Amino acid sequence: MHNNPYLVVLAFLCTLSQAPIAAHSADENKLEVFSWWTSGGEAAALDALFGVYKQQDPGVEIINAAVAGGGGFAARPLLQTRLAGGNPPDTWQSHPGWELLGQYVEPGYCEPITDLYKTNGWDTAFPKELVVNLMTKDRKIYAVLAGIHRGNVLWYNTKLLEKNGIKVGDRMTFDQFFAACDKLKATGIAALGVGDSQIWASAQLFENTLLGVVGPKGWTDLFDGTMQWDDPKVKEAIKLFGKMQDYINRDHSALSWDQAIKALMEGKVAFSSMGDWADGEFLKANLKEKEDFGWVSHPGTSGSFVIIGDGFALAKGAPHKEAALAWLKSVGSKEAQEAFNRLKGSIPARTDVDRSKFDAYHKWSMDSFAKDKPVASCVHGEAAPAAFQQALNDAVTAFLGDKNVDNFANALVEAARELPSAK
Ligand code: GAL
Repeated sequence: MHNNPYLVVLAFLCTLSQAPIAAHSADENKLEVFSWWTSGGEAAALDALFGVYKQQDPGVEIINAAVAGGGGFAARPLLQTRLAGGNPPDTWQSHPGWELLGQYVEPGYCEPITDLYKTNGWDTAFPKELVVNLMTKDRKIYAVLAGIHRGNVLWYNTKLLEKNGIKVGDRMTFDQFFAACDKLKATGIAALGVGDSQIWASAQLFENTLLGVVGPKGWTDLFDGTMQWDDPKVKEAIKLFGKMQDYINRDHSALSWDQAIKALMEGKVAFSSMGDWADGEFLKANLKEKEDFGWVSHPGTSGSFVIIGDGFALAKGAPHKEAALAWLKSVGSKEAQEAFNRLKGSIPARTDVDRSKFDAYHKWSMDSFAKDKPVASCVHGEAAPAAFQQALNDAVTAFLGDKNVDNFANALVEAARELPSAK
């Protein structure tokens, strides 16, 4: 019955209860927006979102409470502390799925925003599947998506590949990828750029590689318990991930994800497997699509779209509730979705935007979203509870040290015992 990971998420969360609330008072005419958008591209896109809001609500002073660190590695624990202490920002960035419903809605930190959907025609403007399966609990909706990132993208430095006689088609196999890596390695170039000073970036490389081996159906099977985490296919993916380590830049653990993208721009590395927030960095640096940088689905994952949605939620007891509601309304507007996503690398979550306003990468991603199989990201908090997300990060860290495939798989088997689908 639970073949769809979204339904598994939903079914479990429907059984959870709601907890009480913290009350608040504060100054008028302010709005505190919490996120982790601080890299060059991220900050520019957030600014565009602020710009649209300010046009609608000019008297309100925005407090930008962004906390640096890709993937929300530093922001999310801080947010938890604030929420648990009854000191919420008015609104905060959240991935849909487990992160939103399990970490924020279930403990009672969020106010539903269902009315905004009714009064703004959002019921039809946003993809129903996503809203119903990943952002709704007890028929109440808890977030509005600012945009949707594609996680399984392999970016490359066009000129560096050309110089080395490497051609990339519209899809790539693992064999083609490793053949390119060998060519580059022979000339002393680190083929694959990683910035895993925060381990999620390597976990994402593994997530993409795992999807490349098991496919979208296998992904669903893993998260609903039909396939085990020590399945030969998972081990094959771990081995491929291990093999990739031979081609990675030496300074990977000293770099952040965006520094690795910068290394790609500078021709120090050729490829980087990263969600399309990387596109935001290329745009910020004024690089030209295809001429300077190119992209293809991460090896083996053509036909799948790893969804990494960026939503905003409303705090229960928001200190500036009216401004927060106006912010959420603005985030969901066509104007904001067009302005923000053009800079962020993601595609608008609304399906009624003006496609002609977007560049080639965005159009490619929009087409992929329309026809490919959606897959929920585990690394970005959607597909599984936080404990499993953490266990995956820990298993990746351990593997980078001991390179032990069985240990990696067994750690995931252990962690999966705690998944709701296993109970
Ligand atoms: C993701 C988030 C993206 C991007 C990325 C890197 O979790 O959804 O918007 O910010 O982290 O920081």
